Order: sequence, then C-alpha cells, then structure tokens
Amino acid sequence: MEVSVEGKVVLVTGASRGIGQATAAEFARSGAAGITITSRKPENIERAAAELIEAGVDEETLLPLAARADSEESADNAVAATVERFGSCDILVNNAGTNPSAGPLMEVDLGALDKTWSVNLRAPLLWVRAAYRASMEKNGGSIVNVSSVGGLRPSPITGAYNVSKAGLVHMTRQLALELAPSIRVNAVAPAVVKTRLSEMLWQDEAAAAGMHPLGRLGTPEDIARAIVFLASDAADWMTGVILPVDGGMSEASSSGIA
Ligand SMILES: NC(=O)c1ccc[n+]([C@@H]2O[C@H](COP(=O)([O-])OP(=O)(O)OC[C@H]3O[C@@H](n4cnc5c(N)ncnc54)[C@H](OP(=O)(O)O)[C@@H]3O)[C@@H](O)[C@H]2O)c1
Repeated sequence: MEVSVEGKVVLVTGASRGIGQATAAEFARSGAAGITITSRKPENIERAAAELIEAGVDEETLLPLAARADSEESADNAVAATVERFGSCDILVNNAGTNPSAGPLMEVDLGALDKTWSVNLRAPLLWVRAAYRASMEKNGGSIVNVSSVGGLRPSPITGAYNVSKAGLVHMTRQLALELAPSIRVNAVAPAVVKTRLSEMLWQDEAAAAGMHPLGRLGTPEDIARAIVFLASDAADWMTGVILPVDGGMSEASSSGIA
C-alpha cells in the first residue's frame, strides 16, 4: 500500500531543524493538505519554512508558528490556528525534545531534570489534549510521539533524558488505549541521528556509527519516513506500537547510547 496522507492536516512540533523539519518535508511529499510547523524561536521556524518552500513545498500548505512545546497556552493557540487555517488537525507529531544534561541520575542538576521531563514528557500530553479538544475528538486522528532507544532500556550517558523517553513510551501506550478506536497513538524510537541535539554522541562519528549494526548514523529522513508511515492509513491497524528506527542497535549486544 502506498504511504499517503493525501488531504490530511498535520502539526509537527520542534520542526525548525533535524527530524522535525525532515518530517514536515516528508508529509508534504506524501500529500498533506496543511502542515503546521512549530518551534520556540520565530526566526528559526521562519528559516525552516523558507528552506521547505525552497525545496518545493507549496507555501499555501505551510503554517510556521513560534510555540513553546512546554506551554499549554502555546499548544492551544497553535492547534487553534491550524484548525482555523486548514479546517482540522488530523495528525500530530510530538517531536520537540531537549537534552540539557548528561550523566547519571544521581548527579543531574535538578533544573535540567525539570526542563528535560517538562519538554520531553509533559509537553506531548499538552499537545495531545489540545489536538483532541479542538479536532480529534470529533474527527478522529493519528498521533506519533518521538521517543528514543534510550526510552527502551537504560544507558550510562543520558539518565534524565532516558527516563523522560521511557515515560513517553508508556504514555503512548496509555493514550493508545484511552483514545481508541478513533485516534491511533504510536511512537518511533530512534538511535543516534546526526542532528544538533545528539552532537555529543557523535563527536567521534566512526565510533558512533560502529555501534549500529547497519554501520552508519541515522539521518533525519530515516526517522521522517517511519513517522509518516505510522501516521498514515498504511498503519491503520497499528496503535500503541513503539517502532525502533535504529540501524539495528536494539539488537546489538553492546549498550546503546541514544
Ligand atoms: N538525534 C538523535 O540522535 C535522536 C535520537 C532519539 C530521539 N531523538 C528525538 O528526536 C526529536 C527531535 O530531535 P532532533 O534530533 O531532530 O534535534 P534538533 O535538530 O536539535 O531539533 C530539536 C527541535 O526541537 C525544538 N525545540 C527544542 N526545545 C523546544 C521547546 N521547549 N519548545 C519547542 N520546540 C523546541 C528545536 O527548535 P528551537 O530551538 O527553534 O525551539 C528544534 O526544532 C527529539 O524529541 C529527540 O529527543 C533524537
């Protein structure tokens, strides 16, 4: 079956670069009728919009908005603007994420812990609730959360981040139950993708690539294709699924790092 989101309206958080921007591009290629992209800083999201248009995305289908992921008001306003502009919000991708701390939980700065858990775990629920109330409760929909292989099992480097992503895995499964049958909720769990967020993990690129059985780092496009698949009708009988997109890292015997 062809992966198509023809006519669907999509909202992607954290789309000013990396996985989120690639996901917006993939949704456009797959026929989305409207794509709202959000991130904190207006200049960043406007630049991303300009790059997407330059790459061939129809300007009429794109709505760039500055919106903090961890603000209920921002989530409500962004979803309302999406519904006003395009008529609905059919697909939500909770992609915005942060990792301001490294190291074990016993040593993590509590301010960094609060920020990590707020942006990576609490925020996705705010956006689900906003999309549900403004559109999905009535029209149905599909939600994809961006977790991490670090949310599937512990690793030594990013304790607070891993716990937030493990929480997001469970939230995905919980929401899948709560929102069935009209709304599907799934997640992707990437390993190391070469973006700004994970820079500290791939400073030694050859070593980082070598941790993945497929022998290379992930690209934002690798993750984007999996997100669009889960969001689309091609995955119509899938909900509560956590899909590793990880170059085989989950199968590797060594401990992962993403
Ligand atoms: N890269 C990896 O190896 C990897 C592996 C597993 C999972 N992930 C997950 O993939 C997702 C995307 O990350 P990425 O790798 O693409 O990183 P990235 O290139 O650094 O992009 C992060 C995006 O999130 C936005 N953002 C950060 N904090 C925000 C906030 N408080 N409110 C709204 N937007 C915010 C950033 O935009 P502004 O700065 O403009 O706000 C940016 O658009 C994250 O959830 C991350 O945890 C990444």
